Amino acid sequence: MCGIVGYYGPQNPKDVIIAGLKKLEYRGYDSAGLTVLHQGQLKRVRAEGKLKNLEQKIIGEKFDGHLGIGHTRWATHGVPSERNAHPHQVQGVSIVHNGIIENYLEIREELLARGAKITSDTDSELVAHLIAEEVQKQNDLLKAVQIVLGKLRGAFSILAIWEKQPDRLVAFKDGPPLVVGLGDKETFIVSDVQAALQHTKKYIYLDDREIVLVRGDQVDIVDPTGKQIKKQIVELNWSAEQVEKMGYSHFMLKEIYEQPQAIASAMEPHIDSETHSIRLKNVGFGTAPQNIDQLNTLVDWEKTCATLKGINKVMIIACGTSYYAGLAGKYYIEQIARIPVEVDIASEFRYRKPVLQPGTLVMTISQSGETADTLAAIRLAKESGATTLSICNVKNSTIDREAHGHLYMNSGPEVGVASTKAFTSTLVILNCLALAIGKIKNSLSSAQEKEHIQALLSLPSQVEVVLAYDKYFTEAAESLKSFKGFLYMGRGVSYPIALEGALKLKELAYLHAEGYAAGEMKHGPLALIDERMAIIMLAPSDELYEKTVSNLEEAKARGGKIISIGTGENEKLKKISERYLSIPKAHWSTNPVISVIPLQLMAFHLASSLGYDVDQPRNLAKSVTVE
Ligand code: F6R
Repeated sequence: MCGIVGYYGPQNPKDVIIAGLKKLEYRGYDSAGLTVLHQGQLKRVRAEGKLKNLEQKIIGEKFDGHLGIGHTRWATHGVPSERNAHPHQVQGVSIVHNGIIENYLEIREELLARGAKITSDTDSELVAHLIAEEVQKQNDLLKAVQIVLGKLRGAFSILAIWEKQPDRLVAFKDGPPLVVGLGDKETFIVSDVQAALQHTKKYIYLDDREIVLVRGDQVDIVDPTGKQIKKQIVELNWSAEQVEKMGYSHFMLKEIYEQPQAIASAMEPHIDSETHSIRLKNVGFGTAPQNIDQLNTLVDWEKTCATLKGINKVMIIACGTSYYAGLAGKYYIEQIARIPVEVDIASEFRYRKPVLQPGTLVMTISQSGETADTLAAIRLAKESGATTLSICNVKNSTIDREAHGHLYMNSGPEVGVASTKAFTSTLVILNCLALAIGKIKNSLSSAQEKEHIQALLSLPSQVEVVLAYDKYFTEAAESLKSFKGFLYMGRGVSYPIALEGALKLKELAYLHAEGYAAGEMKHGPLALIDERMAIIMLAPSDELYEKTVSNLEEAKARGGKIISIGTGENEKLKKISERYLSIPKAHWSTNPVISVIPLQLMAFHLASSLGYDVDQPRNLAKSVTVE
């Protein structure tokens, strides 16, 4: 995590860096800092806390020049403090770092033995010392970096400048992302394109152990031996406006409200709306997309069919909200395509020596496409010879680039740390994938295909309807304030939605919530129930409805206070519940998309009325590029 921005060019580096860091604050927000090469000398300012503290601190400060680096931190080694904030600076070298240096203890001891004065508790400062030592010997920043790269173990992306080479910016990575933005006589090196989108749409995505050397107007990418590497320039079609709040109070709220559009964009490539048939488009098994144009023109349905025909099991791997989407995917794929699905948390999968049988399709889900554990999982699956498929939101992210096949959430940039539209778009994609596998494997009749597609096509307008009920969710959120704990429950495909609802409340409102399969209540959680425990029950009118209502009666009989989310007018649910929230009637496969929206909105309203920072919850960051 951590966000980094480097700039060389004619604009004032301070302005470019601060604007870029604002876009990257989602990656970490416990301290921030910048260094500008001002009148031939490194001028550094750092501040504990959010970026606004740094902005406050530099009011009235003059920064000239054309070169600078900046950082917003998510602490790994060393508490959040000014002393541990980046950039770290040693003898005219300034660096910013995202990631973890695993051999830092060893490096620290070596440096101390050589008499280095270490002033922070971070692993990052050690890199500044190593580069400073080497530039004295090599008299060249690139050469120094080449040597230091060989000494580091871990996951890192690093930018360095040296005051003796005032036209140079050198960056390298092994793990966390780094992207080079190419402007007109200016260059940006950033953790995420969002930080430079207002300046350029042209990017080079660095691969591991590549080094970028910016020398004035010239940009070269080299390998650790200094050999030139020819890289593809990718032209993006995201606009800078898409990453603005556009009048909403929070990114999260904007992203919740963007869901009708996001869902429509997710399904659009895969559905022929005239024939109501599924045709997964541009999966590109075996071909990593090189640029956006290629992504849009690649027609490979036949190749996708051939690959999917050969699979007999799907293994879904992800973290957090993406993992819960994967759990819903299990219900879709097993029920529609009739092949077994296993779902695993990436950090568990990668260390439990998984058995991957031939014919298993390993599918990862990641909004950012950079989550370290998910990336490690896909690499492990590839090493075992499995065919891999990724569902990502960020095109050209590391996971996207490394997978054999590619599906996209197409949600547009998601900035709020709590994932919302990426979750619902993923549910839609998983639904389409299940239909495609079902069709290819002849377990889906054409009548069923049409019924499912009709349900999908109705979804964006149904989501609009739920969003229009927001005032009821706001009132419900207010009533949640009096409870000490929350049990989110559902059965069948509503169970992963309950898990997701509980996660949203935990991460935004800092309240203890648990997601449970409603049928499990009597195996333990019933003991928790009293009048201070809220039960938030997903009770759609599906084939499990009667059983869900029985579970509700059991909870009510023990004093539990019930908030139920059901379909249309429902007198029975109204009678059992303290509060009944109605959502439109939908097909079993699309109901999860609709029913998660009240849960997102209730968590949002409760957290914001408690005064919490909804877009940047404490201790979290959006892109988890460390283990
Ligand atoms: C929760 C949330 C996280 C992410 C998780 C995986 O709201 O956003 O749980 O879902 O960190 O992130 P990605 O999907 O980027 O791999």
